Amino acid sequence: MSLETNLGDIKLKNPLILASGILGASYSSLQRMYDAGMGAVVTKSIGKNPRSGSPNPTIFALVEIKSIVSSVGLANPGYKTFKEDLVKLTEKQTPAIVSIFGETKEDIGEIIEGLNDLPLLAFELNLGYSKENPKTVQEKVGIIKQITNKPLWVKLTPDECNVIKIAEAAVNCGCNALVAINKVKAMVIDIKTKQPVLGAKKGGISGSVLKPIGVRCVYDLYEHFGDKIPIIGVGGISKGEDVIEYLLAGASAVQIGSAVGVAYPENMVRFIQMGIRKYLREQNIENLDEIIGGAFK
Ligand SMILES: Cc1cc2nc3c(=O)[nH]c(=O)nc-3n(C[C@H](O)[C@H](O)[C@H](O)COP(=O)(O)O)c2cc1C
Repeated sequence: MSLETNLGDIKLKNPLILASGILGASYSSLQRMYDAGMGAVVTKSIGKNPRSGSPNPTIFALVEIKSIVSSVGLANPGYKTFKEDLVKLTEKQTPAIVSIFGETKEDIGEIIEGLNDLPLLAFELNLGYSKENPKTVQEKVGIIKQITNKPLWVKLTPDECNVIKIAEAAVNCGCNALVAINKVKAMVIDIKTKQPVLGAKKGGISGSVLKPIGVRCVYDLYEHFGDKIPIIGVGGISKGEDVIEYLLAGASAVQIGSAVGVAYPENMVRFIQMGIRKYLREQNIENLDEIIGGAFK
């Protein structure tokens, strides 16, 4: 039985990828996640300049629904400083994807040029950041494809009312995989203080509540694009069964975020892989290709 999966020309030893923003801000945490058994790791989203992000508190756990409301505000050291961590990571031959964001195509072009000499697996463009429309997406994807030959993954937000139109713009400009989904807009108000709990007041929700929304989004994308472009599912994954559900909806791999913060990564990765293997064994399935998009058969 094999857990290998392909995302276009990229082969991963298993379909589990660390999602952007969780333990992805330094060489040591990224390397630890890979050593724990992930198939690849995505960095925290990196911008052109250092950014301090949202005021504290940035994270609030909703324990009863196994979810998190957060607003980190894309805090990051800027691509020039972060490059030192990326050099160490790639020297170890860790399959690394760098998540980037930028307000303008010029900012994005500068980041890609600055990091393009590293042997990265791919870039991931975070579109959850500013208000996007098909034209801004075309410009951003277009400039990246002009500068680099590395694969480009585009990460979609479900807050965008027409995800398919945004995805189409990205696919038409040559993006190599779609990643769905980012957090969904959310907030929590403390009824004692009568104030929002997050420093930034408003934030986004991730964790278990996101799974049906993510599965629906992946299903919609697969229904529209079929095998034309690989899809990576994200949102609410904490066990093997969750991964299988995303694969059946059409994902070729998945990313895991919030669940990484609540368990030892080594135990969590082993637990999720065990769940996948158990399902494959019970269903007499030899490899993941047999179930990708299975909900359409
Ligand atoms: C604290 C926190 C920080 C995040 N930062 C980023 C980020 O920098 N870039 C990004 O594309 N997504 C970011 N995300 C979104 C995750 O990558 C993921 O899409 C989302 O949390 C859903 O997956 P999950 O339910 O497994 O957490 C962040 C999520 C959390 C909880």
